[in-house]
Amino acid sequence: MIDINSKEFYTVRGYHLLEQNKRLITPAMEDYLEMIYRCGLQERYVRINRLSQLLNVKASSASKMVQKLGSLGLMKYEKYGVLVLSDKGKEIGKFLLERHNIIEKFLRLLGCSEDNILKQTELIEHNLNTETIHRLEILNNFFTSNPTIAGQFGDFEKK
Ligand code: FE2
Repeated sequence: MIDINSKEFYTVRGYHLLEQNKRLITPAMEDYLEMIYRCGLQERYVRINRLSQLLNVKASSASKMVQKLGSLGLMKYEKYGVLVLSDKGKEIGKFLLERHNIIEKFLRLLGCSEDNILKQTELIEHNLNTETIHRLEILNNFFTSNPTIAGQFGDFEKK
C-alpha cells in the first residue's frame, strides 16, 4: 500500500482537497481547473474567451462553469474578466495538471502515437484513482532513470 502522505507524492494536499469535494467536482470541472491552472503557469492569466477556446466550448458555457467553480470556493475573483483560482482551486489544479502529465508521460513511454496520447490522456485522467497514478509515476521514473531498460523495451517491441 502506498503512503499517500509520503513526501515523494508532492500533490498530497491537492489530492485530499479533490477527494473531499469529489461529489461536487465533475470531470468537466476538473478540465476547467486544470486548464485555468495551466494558463496561470504559462500565460500568467486567462480570460473567459481564451479559456473557452482552449476547452473548445462556448464562452457562455465557460462563464456558467466559472460561476459554479466560484460558488464552490475554487475561484477567487474575476477582475476585468481575468480568472483567478483561490488557494484551494490552485492546489487542486496543480494536482490535476500533475495527474495529466504523469498519464501523458506513461502513454509516451508505452510508445503510443502523439495524437492518441492526447486523446487518451483526456479520457483516462478522470477515471484513475490516486494509487494508480502514483504507481504510474514510479514506473515513469523507473524508465527515465534506467534508459537502458527503456531501450530494451523498445527493442523487444520491434521483435
Ligand atoms: Fe487533462
